[in-house]
Order: sequence, then C-alpha cells, then structure tokens
Amino acid sequence: MFITKIKLIKKINPGVHQLFLFDKVTQLEQAGFTKEQLTYVKQAIEQKQKPLLFNHSGVFQFIVFNEPKKEDAPYKISEQWRREASGIANLCNQQKIETLAIADLTGNSGNVTDTVEGFLLSNYQFLKYRTGEKNGVNALKTIEVLEKDADKNALKETEIIAEATFAARDLVNEPLSYLTAEQLSQQIKSLGKKSGFRVEVFNKSKIKALKMGGLLGVNLGSPNPPTFNILEWKPKNAKNKKPFVLVGKGVVYDAGGLSLKPTPNSMDKMKCDMAGAAAVAGALHAIAQAKLAVHVVGLIPATENRPGGNAYVPGDVLTMHSGNTVEVLNTDAEGRLILADALSYAKKYKPELVIDLATLTGSAAAAIGSEGIVYMGTADESVKKNLETSGNDVYERLVEFPLWDEYDNYIKSDIADMKNIGGAVAGAITAGMFLKRFTDYPWLHLDIAGPAYIDKPEFYKPKNATGIGVRLLFDFFKNKAI
Ligand code: BES
Ligand code: MN
Ligand code: ZN
Repeated sequence: MFITKIKLIKKINPGVHQLFLFDKVTQLEQAGFTKEQLTYVKQAIEQKQKPLLFNHSGVFQFIVFNEPKKEDAPYKISEQWRREASGIANLCNQQKIETLAIADLTGNSGNVTDTVEGFLLSNYQFLKYRTGEKNGVNALKTIEVLEKDADKNALKETEIIAEATFAARDLVNEPLSYLTAEQLSQQIKSLGKKSGFRVEVFNKSKIKALKMGGLLGVNLGSPNPPTFNILEWKPKNAKNKKPFVLVGKGVVYDAGGLSLKPTPNSMDKMKCDMAGAAAVAGALHAIAQAKLAVHVVGLIPATENRPGGNAYVPGDVLTMHSGNTVEVLNTDAEGRLILADALSYAKKYKPELVIDLATLTGSAAAAIGSEGIVYMGTADESVKKNLETSGNDVYERLVEFPLWDEYDNYIKSDIADMKNIGGAVAGAITAGMFLKRFTDYPWLHLDIAGPAYIDKPEFYKPKNATGIGVRLLFDFFKNKAI
C-alpha cells in the first residue's frame, strides 16, 4: 500500500506542475493567464473540452472547471471534484509527474479537500505480487496544497480515510493463498496495533464451545480452521451508552461448497467474499485513527466455503449459535449462515444498532449493479435516513429493499425452523429475511455484492477491490460522535 503525501506549502514554487481549480468563469481572470491563454481556456470550457491543460516545455498546468448547476445537490458537486481529480491523477501518472501543486481559485477549502480525496483514492495500486516490473508504478507521490487554501483537519481526515480504504482494498485483493481466515485475523490484529482498536480472536475450539453451528458448518469442507474476530473501539468520551455493532462477512473464499460455483465470472472472483469483513476492519481502523467519540464493536466470522473432505451437504440441518435449526438446501448460500451466528452473538452487547455488511447475493448485484448498496432492516426511519445521507455524501449510495412479512414464507422448511434459500425471485430480500430472524435489536443489512469488486475502473475506484463501506461507515459514525 502506498499513500500519496499531502504537503502543506506557503507558496507554489516555479517549475512545479500545477492544477487550477475554478468554479466560476470570473475566477479565470485571477489565474495570471495571458490574454491568448484566457481566450483559449474560455473557449475550451464552452466546448466542454477535457482534459484542459497547458504544457510549458514540460511543466504542466492542468485546469479543472467545475461550475455547479443550480439544481445540483452539494454531494454531487463534491463527487464531481473527486472524479475530476482522478482524471488528472491518471494524466500525472502518464506524464510521470511526481509532485503536483493545487492552486485553488474557488476560495472554498471543501473543494480542495474533495479534490485531494479524489487524488488519494485513485492513486492506489496492488503490486505485492509483481516481480521486477517498475514501469507500471504510479509516479505521482505528492500533492501540494497552499496553507491558506487548506482545511487542515479535513485533509488529515482525508488521509485517514484513504489509508483505511486502501487497507480494505488490500485485504480484498489478497488471494486465498495468502489470506486464510487465520491470516485475516493476523491482518486485523496488525491494523488494531497501528490505530489502537482492541482485537480478540476466537479459534475453532472456542467457536465450538460457543456452538456457532453456522460458521462451523460452512467450514467443514475446508482444510483451514475458521476464526471469529472481535474488534472494539471504546474511547472514554464515547457519546453512546450502548455500543454500535458492525458485522462483516468474512468468507475468505467462496467456492460454493458442494453446490459448486462455475468458474468464469463467478468463482474466479470469490476471493472478494470477505469484502464486508474488510469494510468493518477498515472502518474501525479509521474510527480509531481519528479517535472518534463513539463506542463501536466489530464482529467478523471468517472461513472458506469449500467442497472438500467432510463438507456440509445440501439437505443437512445445522443448529445455530441462537439454538435455531437451519436446513441447508444450497451450500452456496453460506454467507447468511456465518452472519446469523455473528448477529446472534451480537445480542449480548445490547446494541443501540447493528449494521452488517456482506457480499451476500448475486441478486443484489443483478438489481442495481455496482452503482450502490442494497440495504434493508428494522432500524428506525431516522437511522435509515442518516445512513442514506452519509451514503450520498461519500457517494456510496444506498437503496432500500422491503422486508415484508410475506417474504418470511419463502424460507420455511419442511423439517427445520427455516431453510437457507428462498425461491427463484427476491434473492437479496430472502437473504435479509433469514438474517432478520437472528436479530432482536435495531438492525440494518447492507448487501455490497455489486460494488465491492469491479471489472473496470470507476473514476477514483480502481479495477477489482473498491474498499466500499469504509468511507460510508466513517462518515456515519463521525456524525454520531458530535
Ligand atoms: N458470495 C456470494 C454472492 C456474490 C455474488 C458475491 C456475486 C459477489 C458477487 C454468495 O455466497 C452466494 O453464493 N450467493 C448465492 C445465494 C443463492 C445460492 C441463494 C447467489 O447469490 O447466487
Ligand atoms: Mn456463496
Ligand atoms: Zn459467499
């Protein structure tokens, strides 16, 4: 993981590549352009030409002109700055530019922060398994910001968020050959050491003692043992009496079990099935690093889902941590089984709110693609509204699906309390209905199967792991900490 440095400066040195930020045509006069340059820039803006730049014998001046339309919500304008920055970051890397100074003419430090966030988030690479090749390494190392233009606290926070997002991306990009459940626990511990959250790891015998039948059932076909991870950030000045609990699906590899997945475009991506766990670990990392005044607990059940040896079979009945029984009719619907144990374990905290994040269903991904998060749950409308607002602000948007009573019929079993699959329709919802049965507190379920791992870059989200959930949760808890 490499994170672009933010350097505060007093003045921009001659010879340094620059990026001008404008949001009104009148500001162009203040940039010190010549008459010819001004005419050119104005014309280029009118023709919506992008990218817009001058190359003075190798010294670049990039121009971002982002004039808000009246009807644009502020969060859309923020997103536009991030996106523009990602475009410039690509150009910098192409041109082997190492340092870029931002010259803000909008007079709004928020625009500078959003731009810096776009630079940091897009300038990510996962190079751990490349040997010898230095050509492809991103050149851009430092973003310079004038002190007078900077909101220093906001920039510090941006750095924290980007670093935590990268930690989550790295975890998701790691293949199973490195990231087994036990190795995931190690990584979580080392994040906790860096930022100051507490980590406790339950091993297989402790998981057995706790009778986590879902997690143990899914793990049966795997040569590697499961883990159950408890992360906790509990500052003295916490604003909440009852903790917030985050639950993350930690299936370090989902082969489907005996209900084996096909390879192309399916099993070949399933190292991403612990993206919920990565989001929870990344969020705790950022929350602890920023010392937010909230008490947050993270619960991460982790295992592979494989068809080996003693694997659980379709038709098996599992007795869960809650004591309820589940008839397994598809071993590929494993996420809900391990989450159910964690949700049931969460009851002991008497939580104010539980949020689970999981790459849970292809159905959620089919419904809205990678453009957002499908969510549902029993928390109050006001909580849902707050989370949706955070979702817009960080542009990890949420859309609510219903948990109507009728859907509960879909998971009735002939022989057990419930079965682990519904019918051919409403797959994201029946997974949610299954989880709901293991909760007795305000709860929200976020299905991130669509946006967690993407086929092509989306602005500041590179191809593959996106780190979705980290920025969302950080923003949500930041608002709880005031
Ligand atoms: N991990 C998958 C869901 C998934 C799909 C994540 C695509 C990321 C991208 C999950 O465990 C799964 O296999 N779900 C099944 C459930 C079905 C068997 C009821 C699915 O969605 O097909
Ligand atoms: Mn599965
Ligand atoms: Zn899965």
